[in-house]
Amino acid sequence: MEKIKVAVVGTGNICSGAHMPVYMGRDDVEVIACADIDFPKAQAFAEKFNIPQVYASVEELLANCKPDYVDVCTWPAAHAPVAIAAANAGCHVMCEKPICHNLEDALALKEAIDRNGVKFMLAVPLRYDKPAVHARKLVDEGVLGEVYFGKTAYVRQRGIPSGWFSCTKYAGGGPIIDIGVHRIDLAWYMMGCPKPVSVLASAVYKIGDYHDAPKVEAVSEKVSANNAWSGTQVLDYKFDVEDSASGVIRFENGAQLLFETSWSFNGPTNNSTQIAGDKAGITLEPFKLYRAEGSKLVEEDIQGDFGGNYFANEIDHFIDCIRNDKVPSSNIDQAVQLQMMLMGIYESSKVGHEISFTY
Ligand SMILES: NC(=O)c1ccc[n+]([C@@H]2O[C@H](COP(=O)([O-])OP(=O)(O)OC[C@H]3O[C@@H](n4cnc5c(N)ncnc54)[C@H](O)[C@@H]3O)[C@@H](O)[C@H]2O)c1
Repeated sequence: MEKIKVAVVGTGNICSGAHMPVYMGRDDVEVIACADIDFPKAQAFAEKFNIPQVYASVEELLANCKPDYVDVCTWPAAHAPVAIAAANAGCHVMCEKPICHNLEDALALKEAIDRNGVKFMLAVPLRYDKPAVHARKLVDEGVLGEVYFGKTAYVRQRGIPSGWFSCTKYAGGGPIIDIGVHRIDLAWYMMGCPKPVSVLASAVYKIGDYHDAPKVEAVSEKVSANNAWSGTQVLDYKFDVEDSASGVIRFENGAQLLFETSWSFNGPTNNSTQIAGDKAGITLEPFKLYRAEGSKLVEEDIQGDFGGNYFANEIDHFIDCIRNDKVPSSNIDQAVQLQMMLMGIYESSKVGHEISFTY
């Protein structure tokens, strides 16, 4: 079997800590090139992972080699330019979440993916976790009946990631687009990806940056204490994003999804997702089925082999789609719809009422 050739663009933390260990552990994949606008960083990365070709831009990379797919691991504002360049060069694209930092770029990227006939997969690893996949299977088999409700949360007490993550210019927003995206996508996926029609939400800018000066040292110190993530520091850094958001997304089939997300909440942390139908419901934490049996509701632990690394599952899924000409689960249409929901949260909060989607 011929090896799948991968090029990685953006040689930061997610690429080195999550994607590369998966690639290094597979003998059917070869990372042939890497690129980062921070060229010395890309060089160190190439040396660490023994990658033969190293470049300072995606354009240079694509001019010199032809990977089967480009794995986009830059900050969100660079996702569309990098992914569009890859699609125009005839490469498939796997792109880290969120698809982009706004909706316009997401639509431009969809146009390029469709025009070039290449595959696209949004890297939203929680939907590739085995319990989530099993939950969706139960939904598809009709075990839950008509799924009409979802509730999902990703709430930290003090967990602002450092660097570009809290700067709209690079990230597009704060916890909504950084961590809310994971849980909203997860619940939406489990609910069967119904078409979103509207959102009523509130984004809150009350706490802001809780770190004390000096900024960089304080951030890295407190980040580790709070188990948040560190992003690359940027010269024009400005903290200008929300600290929390909550709201409800409504779907064409009448279902609704309540969500909550925060980097800085003065209350308990919350990492949970549940869905309910008219025959049964599921919670992921703990992984349980709540099944109607006559007048009783029976609670059952869902048993099975649900271990494993969701980043490995995600990459495995994309490679399977490329080898066997399948459409990825988190494909370009779903990625654009997800972005529409995320951007709709900001819009609804800004205008102060429910907004309808046009996509
Ligand atoms: N799936 C997850 O659980 C998860 C976790 C963390 C981050 N992420 C996502 O992964 C992406 C990267 O995050 P990170 O934590 O690795 O950030 P990072 O700051 O560690 O790395 C980003 C890298 O992209 C490079 N870059 C920026 N623009 C570029 C361009 N045009 N061309 C080439 N390189 C460019 C930067 O120089 C930097 O090295 C983001 O979209 C983030 O939301 C996902």
